[in-house]
Amino acid sequence: MIGFLGAGRVGAQAALEVASAGVDDVTLVDIVPGLAEGEAMDISQKIAETGVDVDVKGSTDFSALKGASVVVITAGMARKPGMTRMDLLERNAGIVAAVAKEVAKHAPSSIALTVTNPMDVMNYVVLKRTGFPKGRVVGMGGLLDLSRFKSTVSAMLDVSHSSLSSLVIGEHGESMLPLARYTTVGGVPLTKLMDETQVELAMETTRRVAIDVISKKGATVYAPANGVFRMVRAIALDKREVVPASAYLEGEYGVEGVCIGVPLVLGADGVEKILSLDLNEKESAQFKKGAETIRQGISAIQSVF
Ligand code: NAI
Repeated sequence: MIGFLGAGRVGAQAALEVASAGVDDVTLVDIVPGLAEGEAMDISQKIAETGVDVDVKGSTDFSALKGASVVVITAGMARKPGMTRMDLLERNAGIVAAVAKEVAKHAPSSIALTVTNPMDVMNYVVLKRTGFPKGRVVGMGGLLDLSRFKSTVSAMLDVSHSSLSSLVIGEHGESMLPLARYTTVGGVPLTKLMDETQVELAMETTRRVAIDVISKKGATVYAPANGVFRMVRAIALDKREVVPASAYLEGEYGVEGVCIGVPLVLGADGVEKILSLDLNEKESAQFKKGAETIRQGISAIQSVF
């Protein structure tokens, strides 16, 4: 069973995708009375027509997570127009610290998948508060940033999304690092198709596009839910898929003691391997800037540990 802790916009949409694809049974938990149950009923009624036979349940009781193989954590506040992800730090740290304890209590063998922002810092909170080994705590952010980079680049080049293969690592925040040098368009390096100014424009657009969506519709939902779905499916089906995601580093990329986005192999055991990359000076500086922001975020919430 896949648990969803938080049945708001992203949690419910991701649960819908996981259930609709028949990946596994789904249980939603939210503190708002009736919300998780209502979402579960709605999803159940949708998959009934499409002929998918998984059980979808909802509850306000954390013990409903018992037996979950993956718990997706979206509990907390979302950004309002004009806010950065880091503006949510203090409010969400308390919530995530509390729910992480519930995950450890009711689903002690699960893999925790952190989504709540600022995600890399929250992923660290989940790691420390569950006490899980580092491989069983992973955060979704890179796949969403990647999906935004692909959307931007394919529009600029006027080519199919399916022709793009790319990677976005680093902080899921203002210092995210779309890697143009590791992006190919049908096998052709992106750097052969775009000059430096265009690459910079694509990277900058990727960094700020989320806030455009938030100012227009109030939240980002479908693109993040797809990232969650991809990661849940990779774990549940032991796909050993290579995805950019937040993991705890112990010296990789010259960084120690924070969770940050890196390419990794995701399978039934969670983070099965972190892949190393050669970063040039500029890329490495951007990656380290993100790591420093995350480190400062962690220092600011010491009271939750
Ligand atoms: P939302 O407000 O629609 O849903 C959050 C849900 O959490 C609410 O239903 C609320 O009742 C619930 N909740 C709050 N405290 C709880 C607790 N202690 N136990 C259980 N449930 C609790 O927000 P939305 O749009 O779903 O976003 C959720 C989080 O995900 C936000 O922090 C947002 O910034 C983040 N996010 C992260 C992304 C990423 O790429 N990592 C992308 C999009 C959103």
